[in-house]
Amino acid sequence: MLNYKNNDPYIEGISLYELVQVCETPFYVYSQEKIIDQVNKTKKILGDNIFYSVKSNSNQAILRLMQSLDIGADVVSSGELKRAVDAGFDPNKIIFEGVGKSEQDLLYAMHKNIRLINTESLAEIKLLNNLAKEKNKIVDIGVRLNPDIDGETLSKISTGKKTDKFGIEIDNIDKIIELVKTCKSLNLVGISCHIGSQISKIEVYKNMFNQMKKIADKFFESGIMIKHIDLGGGFHVKYKDSDPDFNIEMVKQELDNCFAKTKYELSFEPGRYLVAEAGIIITSIITIKNNGGIDYLIVDAGMNTLIRPAMYGAHHEILAINLKSEEFIDYTIAGPICESTDIFSKNIRLAKQKIGNLLVIKNTGAYGKVMSSNYNSRPLPSEILVNNDNY
Ligand code: LLP
Repeated sequence: MLNYKNNDPYIEGISLYELVQVCETPFYVYSQEKIIDQVNKTKKILGDNIFYSVKSNSNQAILRLMQSLDIGADVVSSGELKRAVDAGFDPNKIIFEGVGKSEQDLLYAMHKNIRLINTESLAEIKLLNNLAKEKNKIVDIGVRLNPDIDGETLSKISTGKKTDKFGIEIDNIDKIIELVKTCKSLNLVGISCHIGSQISKIEVYKNMFNQMKKIADKFFESGIMIKHIDLGGGFHVKYKDSDPDFNIEMVKQELDNCFAKTKYELSFEPGRYLVAEAGIIITSIITIKNNGGIDYLIVDAGMNTLIRPAMYGAHHEILAINLKSEEFIDYTIAGPICESTDIFSKNIRLAKQKIGNLLVIKNTGAYGKVMSSNYNSRPLPSEILVNNDNY
């Protein structure tokens, strides 16, 4: 995302040094151009039924941008729903999911007349039917199924196995069919699944597509006219060179192989794939020290700014801004938080650093700011969206 002009770092047409003048580090910077490219590429390959997973980055400027690119929104709380509506998303292009929606959440979603509410338990279907009946409404719903497929991703972001808390297990399909037939205030129009995040293996997509097609056919044969199949998000982003390659065109190929002869309207809910590579964190070196032979750079971004490394052991590449050094050192990059896990990267080779230098933490556009916190009573990081020569 960074480009260099006369050795100075730029994001699109804006100098990083200009941003540091107007904004205290640590802060997030996003490239509008990169987001637009990624959305357009995804739409071109998978079609227009893309529902951006708001949880990955719910910054209001980014939501407005997504909305202007004519895609829908996938939300998981009343807060996200409100943000999406405020950003101008047509309610008919908003899907509400979530494993634990409160009565208030369901009433709010009904009130906003959104495209559909994806239910995740038999109890939720019953509750929603009662609420819709009280309000004299017929509500379109989907059911999120748990297809019992291992996404073969990090265990902490896998969601599609039978024992995971998400969705309704497929052994209960007959119960869903029986129940839905008695729910006169609900209209079951779709099924969905999301088996995890960072899924790279094409075989996994293939199994999931085949499983979902079989399930949709079963609903159809039992007299429930399923229109949509929502295949979730989870597309893989490469965070380090040794990560597997992922090609979304191969997903499209499996999609065609499985669904070409069907009439189902297919949709996806990507989050990370649309925004991860469009964001970076700019952080300053607060101090430098050697403890037990380890060269530490202590920076002002911490696990409160980006929790992914501490929480999942996730890797984010770190770059130094000063490129012109004769000497290189293996540094461990740590944050200022009073926790031993507040470490971004160990033993990375960088040009020799000085206190006050800037570092860049790459690929932080997804699940970055949205998961930041005030831990240690530190302020939340600012966010800057760059668009050509404006920000
Ligand atoms: N749909 C549903 C129902 C989801 O639960 C998720 C993500 C998505 C779509 C979007 O998945 P994506 O395309 O972004 O992989 N905080 C973790 C990721 C958690 C993902 C939760 N669900 C991380 O930082 O890796």
